[in-house]
Amino acid sequence: MSEPKTVDQLLTIGVRVLDDSTHLFDDHDHDDEAQELLAMVLDVDDLDEVPDDHVPGRRERERFLALIARRAGGEPFPFLTGRIEIYGLSLKVRPGAFVPRPSSELTIDLAVKKLKRKKKAIVVDVCAGQGPIALCIAHELDEAEVFGCDIDAGGLEQGRRNAKELGLRNVKFLAGDMYAPLPKRLKGNVDLIVGHVPYVPMDEIEDLPAEVREYEPLYTLSDESVDGLTLMRRAVDESVPWLAPGGWLMLELAEDLSKKVLKMCKKAGFTDLKVRSDEDELSVVVEGRLPKGRTPAR
Ligand SMILES: C[S@@+](CC[C@H](N)C(=O)[O-])C[C@H]1O[C@@H](n2cnc3c(N)ncnc32)[C@H](O)[C@@H]1O
Repeated sequence: MSEPKTVDQLLTIGVRVLDDSTHLFDDHDHDDEAQELLAMVLDVDDLDEVPDDHVPGRRERERFLALIARRAGGEPFPFLTGRIEIYGLSLKVRPGAFVPRPSSELTIDLAVKKLKRKKKAIVVDVCAGQGPIALCIAHELDEAEVFGCDIDAGGLEQGRRNAKELGLRNVKFLAGDMYAPLPKRLKGNVDLIVGHVPYVPMDEIEDLPAEVREYEPLYTLSDESVDGLTLMRRAVDESVPWLAPGGWLMLELAEDLSKKVLKMCKKAGFTDLKVRSDEDELSVVVEGRLPKGRTPAR
């Protein structure tokens, strides 16, 4: 093809370059990504506003092709646009922390449905990162008190900025190891704990595409153990003293880990154990509940 000039030609070349990249996960929609980048460059909400044969200016064409090249080189898509949309919220994203994923929408949806009839629920998001799960739950359940904990203070700061931008006053971000930063008054009183804990076994890290391996810190992906489950085990065992009797634990993970994590939950005393997944099975959540009669730990 000669130098692409029209919107249609630019999109065709953009999608082809993204399709040919070996640095990206297979499951991204490259048509959507190319369209979103071109719309951003042309400063329109939707490319439908622009005729297919429109010829963008030279600067716009170069900017679009440069963005496509960065994406094809593995740069996470939200770094190019500065934002990601999750569960209807537009969240600002900062490099240097785990990149929030729309695949967390299943976790958010399950949590919101469990608690929608509960007044003033207390929710904890352990390993909250930039806080997408905590923010969306806080937005959906405005009477809930939501806490997001993570060891990465930079990611949490972005969570706070998003909370401020969205006007959410019912979510707090606390820095520290697993549940350690939570206020003591929550012991035995938390209605639901969600966790998207690092779980990639160390020997699988090198198989991840560059968009993950090169842009997300190792400690956000893996606890560096052989089975990848050291932090997951802690998330399960250490949740028990914080949960209220009848409280829920929900862990977002890879399908191949679900059996092992169900076993861990059973051993820790959880009942009503289920593996939940979305239609394309890209998202998987293990959920369990503490028995109602369980005496809260002091
Ligand atoms: C897979 S990321 C998930 C982040 C966020 N929940 C999300 O879905 O975007 C895992 C997170 O665990 C955090 N983390 C790693 N070790 C931790 C620890 N010992 N205590 C608390 N958080 C930890 C990382 O900083 C990272 O933000």
